[in-house]
Amino acid sequence: MSGTRYRRLHDLDLESDVIQNPESSSVCSTLIGFLLLFGFVACMIFLTSVQAHPGSISVRDATKNSPTLKRLDNEITSPGKRNITQWMDYYFTQEESQFLNCSEMIKGNKDTIELYVNNGRMKLDQDRLFELPMDCSSIRQRVYGDMPPFSPLKRPIAFVRTIYKIYELQEALLSLSYHPDNTFCFIMDAKSTDKLKNSVRSMSDCFENVIVLEKEYMLNSGGHGQDPAHFDCLQTILDRKWDHAIILQNFDLVIKTPYQLSDLSERLNYTSIMGFDFGFSYRYNTKADWTPAGMKLFKNETGVPDKILHTPMRVRKSLNEVIISKVFVKSMFEKLNMDIIIKLFDDNDYYGVDEMLVQTLYENYLGLDGQMESNCTQNHNDILTRLTHWDFSGPNGFDKQCHSKWKRHGICILGVEYLNDLLKSQMATANKVLATFDFGTIACMREMIKRNVTGITPDAVWLTSFPQFREMQKKANGTYDRNTFDC
Ligand SMILES: *[C@@H]1O[C@H](CO)[C@@H](O)[C@H](O)[C@H]1NC(C)=O
Ligand SMILES: *[C@@H]1O[C@H](CO)[C@@H](O)[C@H](O)[C@H]1NC(C)=O
Ligand SMILES: *[C@@H]1O[C@H](CO)[C@@H](O)[C@H](O)[C@H]1NC(C)=O
Ligand SMILES: *[C@@H]1O[C@H](CO)[C@@H](O)[C@H](O)[C@H]1NC(C)=O
Ligand SMILES: *[C@@H]1O[C@H](CO)[C@@H](O)[C@H](O)[C@H]1NC(C)=O
Ligand SMILES: *[C@@H]1O[C@H](CO)[C@@H](O)[C@H](O)[C@H]1NC(C)=O
Ligand SMILES: *[C@@H]1O[C@H](CO)[C@@H](O)[C@H](O)[C@H]1NC(C)=O
Repeated sequence: MSGTRYRRLHDLDLESDVIQNPESSSVCSTLIGFLLLFGFVACMIFLTSVQAHPGSISVRDATKNSPTLKRLDNEITSPGKRNITQWMDYYFTQEESQFLNCSEMIKGNKDTIELYVNNGRMKLDQDRLFELPMDCSSIRQRVYGDMPPFSPLKRPIAFVRTIYKIYELQEALLSLSYHPDNTFCFIMDAKSTDKLKNSVRSMSDCFENVIVLEKEYMLNSGGHGQDPAHFDCLQTILDRKWDHAIILQNFDLVIKTPYQLSDLSERLNYTSIMGFDFGFSYRYNTKADWTPAGMKLFKNETGVPDKILHTPMRVRKSLNEVIISKVFVKSMFEKLNMDIIIKLFDDNDYYGVDEMLVQTLYENYLGLDGQMESNCTQNHNDILTRLTHWDFSGPNGFDKQCHSKWKRHGICILGVEYLNDLLKSQMATANKVLATFDFGTIACMREMIKRNVTGITPDAVWLTSFPQFREMQKKANGTYDRNTFDC
């Protein structure tokens, strides 16, 4: 359970569902260059065709007696005729969902899980989706129509999420955390289909608190575009009412109710949650000028101590997913000009670039509100933000260590086998769910949220394992001393 988890995994933990952007290698003036380009293009076409068929990940299940989707054309195009008796029926036929038994699966009942898995899991096949009615009353009905009435949140949350592929997945994930007091900000990959783009924009038109950035970003498996996208979203929603923002990517599953996240935010107060580690020197430009003065980081340098202005910032990292307080975010946008530091990290010459920006700004003291003041260089894993079952060995696909027997980029895919772990977890989110692998996990997580049976919300005692939380407590007690603080 040491920091080495991060060290090894980050080479792998990338949301590379996104097709890589070939623009960074366009130089080609000689014959050799041409041949290389030809090979590259051929390779890209191959990769693209592989990625365009997500169904290919289901090889193992498909070899079992899994029923193929038997959706009739009139079922797909005439949604009005479908018989909706439960939420899942919006996305699946009753035949497809017949083996999903959430209450048993949440308990970890192996027989129930096996029966469901052997019958092929519930998969959203991108080519055989139902044509969902996209008028606002239908969308609202799907998102929260069957949920218990909302009561006000003391501390609303902003969910800031980059998205790429299947609209239905994002609608479902929204429905897990939807609450009129929360804010949802989506950023779309420019390479997404028009269907995704149009659907997400229609959805956002139906909710005052669902925002989609007008601008679209080139997101790729190297993490490029993530930081600019997330920060543009944060800036866009800065004047709305929320107390913590959760930074998310396409396949992250929120595993706590809006009320639990509100309670968590109250406990955290102005603290932000992320891990502590040094950035790896092969992930960023070590030769760049990392001093705040060199990066013109402060909007106004008057009154900023020379030691801060001229000491190179140490590059820090954890995961892309972080929980950041409004107090900190607001202070960053008020005092800093982040254009240069964002560009420095979002550098096409490096890979895995999207896990350092927030960490570097938070863990190097700049005099910002809500920021970590202590100089903590010791490694700490983030045990709150994201549940992940790592398995570094071997390639994507079948993996016997994974409870779901399926893995991608060093991370086990969360099939229904993980529901009991999700039930017991204190974490806020989990990674990763694939709607094309097992939508049952998402459906049952939604049941858990609806029925208010999720993992417990961490209490203040548990949170003291985070140095930033202890720092806050000591400051509140008047017992904080920067020089003697025990990281
Ligand atoms: C809809 O489904 C329910 C449960 O499967 C069934 O009892 C009912 O008869 C169905 N209604 C129609 C109109 O098909
Ligand atoms: C789930 O399984 C339990 C135990 O076998 C059974 O009592 C229950 O009716 C099932 N629920 C559904 C929705 O099939
Ligand atoms: C948060 O911290 C501030 C500053 O220490 C304090 O004044 C405030 O009461 C705290 N709020 C909560 C909800 O604990
Ligand atoms: C910069 O900050 C100083 C000290 O806080 C202040 O006096 C000055 O007016 C600020 N300058 C600008 C341009 O805001
Ligand atoms: C933080 O601590 C490290 C060693 O642990 C030291 O090299 C560095 O100068 C310290 N930085 C500040 C700003 O105190
Ligand atoms: C959900 O469950 C928790 C603890 O089990 C309880 O304190 C809370 O009041 C419940 N919330 C709702 C909305 O029922
Ligand atoms: C701060 O004070 C509270 C209550 O007085 C106490 O429970 C807590 O342990 C103290 N924390 C630290 C870090 O001293």
